[in-house]
Amino acid sequence: PPPLKELTDRYVGSAVAAGPLASEADYRATLGREFDSVTAENEMKWSSVEPNRGQYNWSGADQIVEFADQNGQSVRGHTLVWHSQLPNWLQNGDFSAEELRGILQNHITTIVTRYRGSIRAWDVVNEVFNEDGSLRDSIWLRQLGPDYIADAFRWAREADPSVKLYINDYNTENINAKSDATYALVQDLRAQGVPIDGVGFQTHLATKYGLSDSFQPNLERFAALGVDVAITELDVRVDTPSDAAKLAAQAELYKRVWDGCLAVDRCVEFTVWGFTDRHSWVPGTFPGEGEACLFDASLNAKPAYRALNPG
Ligand code: G3I
Repeated sequence: PPPLKELTDRYVGSAVAAGPLASEADYRATLGREFDSVTAENEMKWSSVEPNRGQYNWSGADQIVEFADQNGQSVRGHTLVWHSQLPNWLQNGDFSAEELRGILQNHITTIVTRYRGSIRAWDVVNEVFNEDGSLRDSIWLRQLGPDYIADAFRWAREADPSVKLYINDYNTENINAKSDATYALVQDLRAQGVPIDGVGFQTHLATKYGLSDSFQPNLERFAALGVDVAITELDVRVDTPSDAAKLAAQAELYKRVWDGCLAVDRCVEFTVWGFTDRHSWVPGTFPGEGEACLFDASLNAKPAYRALNPG
């Protein structure tokens, strides 16, 4: 079959990790062949780029951007403001609100400026809501109040006038309290003239929970606000070990997400959170679950891949 990236004019992406990119030729080959967009799985997060205050380490992020450049791929930046994977100096520091605000502005300005021109879209704020739609507790909310969200978008825009700026979250694929809250926030930010261009739906699915019929209508209601929408971290975990029935259920979910995105004009990107079961965050986080990707650990196409790309 043709590669996935040739099946649609949308970006078809994967999360990628610098380790295997450097050491596994077959990983590089599949990534370069099938995808025309990449997202750094961890390498652009704050703890990766500034492990000690004022000491930057861009090596992993740069390797990913270079690979993308050499392979004609677009880059999604992940992520500027998050409650997780913060460096210890920041997590444990005793900063005043004013200091913390300056630290956040400096972080956003530094990284967005560094990759200006080589990154297409940034996840500006990641996972800011709780499941009930209230804002998630974090050092940002506690110390800076809810305005940190609008400020983050404005600072990112100042550093790069043309990169697309996104809010991103999980469990927002369906219509529910969390996606309702996201919708209200996006509407409010747009009304205030805050520069937000898109909404990212992580879409970490499990066959045992499925996906509701509100998936595509949900994408559509966001698109109707005048923003792009993107599938940013799709994977579909199964209870392990898998069998043919589980992999068929997985394939059906991948296909529903693919079809839903392609049915919505403003769904500009379909990105999976890793493409091979050889490297996946799932088993480490959900013991007894895994095999969530399009390719198996030997990089053979699974039923999910063939559902998207029957050839
Ligand atoms: O790099 C260190 C290594 O030096 C150390 O020896 C090892 C021991 O634990 O840890 C390594 O860091 C791990 C890192 O992944 C790189 O492999 C961290 O412990 C581990 O927590 C981290 O997990 C990442 C997770 O975000 C952190 O919350 C996953 O790889 C990554 O896939 C996951 O991605 C998130 C998205 O950013 C946001 N949406 C959800 C998604 C899945 O959780």
